[in-house]
Amino acid sequence: MLVTLKVAATLDGKIASGSGNSKWITGPNARQLVHRLRHEHQAILIGSETLLKDNPSLNTRGIHQGTSPIKVILDSRGRMPRQAKCLRDDESKTIWVVGRKAPDPDWELPSNLIRLTSPGVRPEISWVLSQLENFDIHSILVEGGAQVHASFLKSKLIDKIYLFLAPRVLGNEGLSWCGELGIENLMDTLNFKIIRIEQLTPDLLLELQPIERLND
Ligand SMILES: NC(=O)c1ccc[n+]([C@@H]2O[C@H](COP(=O)([O-])OP(=O)(O)OC[C@H]3O[C@@H](n4cnc5c(N)ncnc54)[C@H](OP(=O)(O)O)[C@@H]3O)[C@@H](O)[C@H]2O)c1
Repeated sequence: MLVTLKVAATLDGKIASGSGNSKWITGPNARQLVHRLRHEHQAILIGSETLLKDNPSLNTRGIHQGTSPIKVILDSRGRMPRQAKCLRDDESKTIWVVGRKAPDPDWELPSNLIRLTSPGVRPEISWVLSQLENFDIHSILVEGGAQVHASFLKSKLIDKIYLFLAPRVLGNEGLSWCGELGIENLMDTLNFKIIRIEQLTPDLLLELQPIERLND
C-alpha cells in the first residue's frame, strides 16, 4: 500500500485557526496540485473532526479527465451525518470506518456507502490499511487532520509527505499539523529526508520521505 500524507500548513506548522477554520491556508497553485494528487491515488482518507468541521466533498476538480478517489472516513463514534457532502457524489464510493462501540446509524445507507466496523473502539491504522487492500485499494492520500496525521506517523506506514507551506503565521492558537506523538526527547524525533522542494507561488512544497530514527 502506498501511503501519502498531504498537509497544507502555515510557516509555523498550523493547519487550522483556533476556531477550526482551514479554508484556505495555501493558494490556488498548491490547491491545484492537491487535486492532481487526489487523481493519482485510489483513495483519500480523513478523520471525523475534519469531516464534521469542514464537510469536504473530497472529489477531484480542475484536472482533465480527473478521477475522484474512493473516500475513507475514520469515525470511531459513527458521527458522520447523512447530509455529509462526501456522500453526494454517486460516482465514487465512501468507506465509513467506525469503532466497535459506534451506534448503528438511524438512516439507511445509500448504495455508494460501505460501513466497516473495526475490532477496536478506535480504528487502528494497520487494520484499516489491510481492510482497504481487500477492496483492491493500493494507494491512499491522507488529508488530515492532526490526530489522523499523528496516528499515521506513529504507525510508521507512511511512504511520503507532501507538506505545502504558506508564507503566513497563525500563532499558538492554531492547530499544529501533527497531534500528540508522546515524544519527550530530541533523540526520539521522527526524521525525514527532503527529496524535493518546489515553489508554488506564493507557497512552497516540500516532498519528504521518512528515514529511520537517529537513535535506532
Ligand atoms: N490544512 C490542512 O491541510 C487540513 C487538512 C485536514 C483538516 N484540517 C483541519 O484539521 C482540523 C481537524 O483535525 P483534528 O486533529 O481535530 O481531527 P481529525 O484528525 O480530522 O479527526 C480526528 C478524529 O478521527 C477519529 N479517528 C478514528 N480513527 C482514528 C485514528 N486511528 N487516529 C486518529 N483519529 C481517529 C477520532 O474519533 P474519536 O475521537 O471518536 O476516536 C478523532 O476524534 C479541522 O479544523 C480541519 O479544518 C486541516
